[in-house]
Amino acid sequence: MEEFSMLKEKLKTWWPSNPAIYDIHKTYQENLEEGPFFSEEIPERPGHSANISFLGHTLRSPIGIPAGPLLNSKWISLASRLGFDVLTYKTIRSFQHPAHPLPNIIPLNCKTEQIAPLEKVPDDLNQLNITNSFGNPSQSPKYLLEDINKAKNCLEAGQVLIVSVVGSDVKERSIIEDYAYTAAYAKEAGADIVEANFSCPNVKSKDGSLYQSPEMVYETAKKIKKVLSDTPLIIKLGSIDDPQLLKEVILACSRAGVNAVEGINTLSREIVKESGQPALGPDRIKSGVCGSYIRTKALEFIRSSREIISNEKLDLKLLACGGIVSAEQFNLFLREGADIAMSATAMMWNPLLALEYHYGESENV
Ligand SMILES: Cc1cc2nc3c(=O)[nH]c(=O)nc-3n(C[C@H](O)[C@H](O)[C@H](O)COP(=O)(O)O)c2cc1C
Repeated sequence: MEEFSMLKEKLKTWWPSNPAIYDIHKTYQENLEEGPFFSEEIPERPGHSANISFLGHTLRSPIGIPAGPLLNSKWISLASRLGFDVLTYKTIRSFQHPAHPLPNIIPLNCKTEQIAPLEKVPDDLNQLNITNSFGNPSQSPKYLLEDINKAKNCLEAGQVLIVSVVGSDVKERSIIEDYAYTAAYAKEAGADIVEANFSCPNVKSKDGSLYQSPEMVYETAKKIKKVLSDTPLIIKLGSIDDPQLLKEVILACSRAGVNAVEGINTLSREIVKESGQPALGPDRIKSGVCGSYIRTKALEFIRSSREIISNEKLDLKLLACGGIVSAEQFNLFLREGADIAMSATAMMWNPLLALEYHYGESENV
């Protein structure tokens, strides 16, 4: 196919000839207001549709973007036109909250035992790893109500809008109540599906992160599901090494009436400069790491979760993210049992990733 060979040629030099769509030297708010940084003409998408049935929607493909790089409706609109069909609005809170100061994203060398900053993003995106240190920023509820609605109206046929939410310990409500409150807000604003981020390192139960406590997962998910009613609910999990714990967490989701589970979130690691100083400053010794480095853990999560869902005959969809940095890797995760495969880190440097996948698929039809 002529278009595909042209796209392949374009991709060989896309990065570093074109800027990343997220500028890591600008603040989060500047990226939100001025971005995404993409000025090229978007190549035409092949006509093929895979007709994927997903939580009451029919999707043109199982390819998407998890919570993170889509900061507002402008970002959702670009991603939709770039052929990503499962679009997640970055995690929102029930109140306005600023992002951490710069740096938020630092390219990383994960080849050495101690993960260290790299001076620049590698030319070879297969080696792409970054820190993710934002502190769950959120715009005001008024802004979100309008902007999520705008995002919903940008979507094309065969696409779906997920809005990710997180609960906070606020004066008026407990964390669990705040999760439910924010989820109801996301639904009202126009979310097709709500995702609750249970893997946020800042949200802890007495035993560690919320997602690692089956009891807390059950209690919180049940409360959210009650307010969402027939709007589907996804629970976003982090990596869980203990197979028994993973099973208990997934069973807790199912008992609470959750419709899908997703993983993984970033892996928390110390990032240290050559000088021995913490790369993100003394207040942020650890940071979430994402990109290629976490692919093995993400694949393990998908294999094990699929096995649990099948063996226990659970009515749960499974969404994958973590380390997908090339178009072929979407299929790697789909073959391992994911219903949906998504990329966050890599799509910021290669925004044509979904189109590359679609051209590959249409060649095989
Ligand atoms: C810039 C950026 C911001 C992110 N913000 C969020 C977030 O707000 N909520 C969330 O659940 N995950 C967030 N993530 C994590 C991603 O959803 C995903 O779980 C993780 O990055 C692994 O996928 P990847 O290797 O393709 O990046 C973020 C990731 C990136 C790169």
